[in-house]
Amino acid sequence: MSRRRMPARRAKKPRTPARSVLEAMAALAVEARERARAPYSGFKVGAALKTRTGEIVTGCNVENASYGLSMCAERVAVFKAVSEGMKDFDAIAVVADSRRLTPPCGPCRQILWEYCGDLAVHMVDLKGRSRTLRLSRLLPFPFDQGNL
Ligand code: THU
Repeated sequence: MSRRRMPARRAKKPRTPARSVLEAMAALAVEARERARAPYSGFKVGAALKTRTGEIVTGCNVENASYGLSMCAERVAVFKAVSEGMKDFDAIAVVADSRRLTPPCGPCRQILWEYCGDLAVHMVDLKGRSRTLRLSRLLPFPFDQGNL
């Protein structure tokens, strides 16, 4: 059987939302973080994922006594949004209360790349410090459909 190449999925680079929009997303991520279920790590994370058309879906980390089953805030937000039929995302805000800003972990970067492409990743802490980076800076040389 011949293997067919998947069509190139890469759409145009989404525009980074305005500062005021990123701040509104961060505020929603702070609220989502309060719903985190993190009794094992004690590390609560909130996320807010935005479509280009302005819909925002939040997520928080949800842990389990079988630690490996725990799920990150970012992936909760992506899976919620994708399962609701949303697409074309342009930014995700990630909030934690830590000394250093919290970037998405490796598996979350891979999932974000697959479903959101090169979106803006807005990392924030509870003191209001923030940094915004494109996912392609966090995940250079990614593996995706183009490799299959
Ligand atoms: N965690 C997230 O939810 N997002 C991140 O970006 C980093 C890590 C969660 C997973 C686990 O529940 C806890 O934080 C500690 O790793």
